[in-house]
Amino acid sequence: MAVLVTGGAGYIGSHMVLALVDQGEDVVVLDNLSTGFRWAISPKAKLVVGDIADQQLVQKSIADHGVDAVVHFAGSIVVPDSLSDPLGYYFNNTVKSRSLIESCVETKVQYFIFSSTAAVYGIPSTNPVFEDANLAPISPYGSSKLMTEWMLRDCAAAYDLNYIALRYFNVAGADPAGRSGQSTPRATHLIKVACQTALAKRDHMDVFGRDYDTPDGTCIRDYIHVSDLIAAHMDALGHLRKGGGSKVFNCGYGRGYSVLEVIKSVEKAIGGPLDARDAPRRAGDPPELVAGADKVRVALGWQPQHQDLDFIVQSALAWERHLQRRNDAA
Ligand code: UFG
Repeated sequence: MAVLVTGGAGYIGSHMVLALVDQGEDVVVLDNLSTGFRWAISPKAKLVVGDIADQQLVQKSIADHGVDAVVHFAGSIVVPDSLSDPLGYYFNNTVKSRSLIESCVETKVQYFIFSSTAAVYGIPSTNPVFEDANLAPISPYGSSKLMTEWMLRDCAAAYDLNYIALRYFNVAGADPAGRSGQSTPRATHLIKVACQTALAKRDHMDVFGRDYDTPDGTCIRDYIHVSDLIAAHMDALGHLRKGGGSKVFNCGYGRGYSVLEVIKSVEKAIGGPLDARDAPRRAGDPPELVAGADKVRVALGWQPQHQDLDFIVQSALAWERHLQRRNDAA
């Protein structure tokens, strides 16, 4: 019995691989290394370099290793890029997921865990936003992920496949043991960008919009530590293996922080000011996005451990320092 992790060389996928090998699971990583890193993969996992849409390769990997569960992270994740390259996003995220799901059905994989996104809600009319809210993505990224959720729903009804789709809110931070973190050089996510600015990897950062209808005028997000997010995946795997049915869950804490609150947390961590400059709103940003997060706790028994924003920021900063030392040594 083994778990196949697609995108296991990436930020979130590499943390999943660590959690699985820590639990003594056999893990096969399928990654084309287009954005992930070979070094990010635990040496205890087996790496297959290839594409999720290569059905021959995928089906052989599943058969060779006795895979009973697939955890699917591989995909394109930059929302603004999806607006300029919608066909690329529908291809990578939707078409290739269809191919992967078909390989699972052909090889009788029973369990599938899918990395979905809060972007399926678009601009929610109320916050916190619960799973049964209106689904109205405003980017091809969100639509491409929602289509995959729908394929899974329909396949679970038609075939012997059970799935959990986890809708991530704002994932941040790094493995508390320092083994992995967000390593993509062209980062756009707030906490990563703020940490890079703190370490002078950028000369300044932008605050995208200070005129929102929020208490301090900046956007509010629900930041979830990557290790807590992975704990939800592990709970989802346990649920499916125990015979639990297909479900969709939000993954967040149900508590929002503004852009300025995040910047303050980084300033506290470094003991000095950040050069954060006012900039125009970024297209497509909902003013507020906070998870209605009760369902995952009740249904999966999820118990997050790292809800403190300062802890999330400190772990992200520690990883950024680690990357800096790596680069200096190279
Ligand atoms: N922000 C800044 N400056 C920066 C980077 C971000 O002010 O340099 C602001 C953004 O405008 C936004 C907030 O910080 O208000 C958070 O932005 P991120 O880019 O960190 O994250 P997003 O909220 O845009 O993205 C998240 C998920 C996506 C998901 C999207 C849906 O990471 O997967 O929410 O809105 F699609």
